[in-house]
Amino acid sequence: MSDVLFIEGGRVIDPASGVDGVRTVVVRDGKVAEVAERVERPRDARAIDARGKWVTPGFVDLHVHLREPGQEYKETVATGARAAVAGGFTTICAMPNTKPVNDNASVTELVLARAAAAGLARVLPVGCISRGQEGQDLAEYGELKAAGCVALSDDGRPVASSSLMRRALEYARAFGLPLAVHEEDPLLVGKGVMHEGPTATRLGLKGIPGAAEDVMILRDLALLELAGGRLHVQHVSTRGGVRAIREAKKRGLPVTAEATPHHLALTDEDVGASGYDPDFKMNPPLRSRSDVQALREALADGTLDCIATDHAPHSAVEKDLEFDVAANGIVGLETAFPVCLALTRSGALSERRLVEAFTASPARVYRLPGGSLGRGEAADVAVLDPAAEWRCDPAAFRSKSRNSPWKSSALIGRCTHTLVGGKLVFEAGKGER
Ligand code: DOR
Ligand code: ZN
Repeated sequence: MSDVLFIEGGRVIDPASGVDGVRTVVVRDGKVAEVAERVERPRDARAIDARGKWVTPGFVDLHVHLREPGQEYKETVATGARAAVAGGFTTICAMPNTKPVNDNASVTELVLARAAAAGLARVLPVGCISRGQEGQDLAEYGELKAAGCVALSDDGRPVASSSLMRRALEYARAFGLPLAVHEEDPLLVGKGVMHEGPTATRLGLKGIPGAAEDVMILRDLALLELAGGRLHVQHVSTRGGVRAIREAKKRGLPVTAEATPHHLALTDEDVGASGYDPDFKMNPPLRSRSDVQALREALADGTLDCIATDHAPHSAVEKDLEFDVAANGIVGLETAFPVCLALTRSGALSERRLVEAFTASPARVYRLPGGSLGRGEAADVAVLDPAAEWRCDPAAFRSKSRNSPWKSSALIGRCTHTLVGGKLVFEAGKGER
């Protein structure tokens, strides 16, 4: 007998198939069997009542730090995967800046083995651009690809050498792998700890100019034109970066880009309002209002392809310090949906585009399966309550880390059910800590 589940009465938003309306999703043997207005449910078939909720493809996050191997006190593959499915994510790409870094097949294989043992989200490893992420020599892209890496990145660090970047583009092109880049000119960043501007001056903190990001994006677009390949710009934070990517796309360059929920929602002024709270410190830093406005417009018009969390867990040991010396990064998997849903209420983003930026668009960027509820696709599904009001409580996160700027904020919108390959891997209110 086949295994059947009906997700009934919800508003199915599936930009990949052009569906937006009340439908029933029928899941059979782990796959989407049907998305239909009217279907008869056999009396003994299992059902999820999705009335008043959204039913979307499971979210795909191209940018997550899982910290295993090496820093399991911050996060493991299993705890990161638990946080992912609680946030509606069914596929997450694991950044390689672990200890040791993922620049060889044995680390890639370890991440995949831990993910398989956890049995929650699909975890796709990203390998290093340079050996040891040291920016000197290229990693072995053939080995990384064969082991299961879907992209290459030195994230956390820029590729400072232009000639190494050129060779990385050429070498990655031979393997069909995208290069995901963290764009900051190290010399312009200097000892900066937040966005350079009036707020940094007032707070007495060293600034990082927006141009530190702009010049690296412009450099890599020039190198992309020279060398070919595929370039994906991670966590774009500046108006100038957006302008450069928009212009490059117009010229037909194969560039894609992501924005994070925090860069879309917060500004450098929030660093001041928070009272030097290190949970508002990340790389690149929160920018000015006009940068944030540019990011929102760019996400709406597709210049920025997708939303990626840059989920970056850190413990109190790295975070409970003065702003200057605290680690960069915040957790994001369990707050991404409500934080970005707020953009639809202010009119900055349509609901359809929001869902697309979490599903079909990231899948397209890395050419991954998923991001769609098309018939025959694996049943990776998120059920989301867009009206659920809740208070963010980092102590209740499935993530091992608590470094969130939304601690104790009132949020609207929450994932209630997550299915991966037809299996219910998360249900709100069940088995919670
Ligand atoms: O804020 C950040 N944290 N930005 C990065 O690029 C890396 C990340 C981390 O690994 O903690
Ligand atoms: Zn980064």
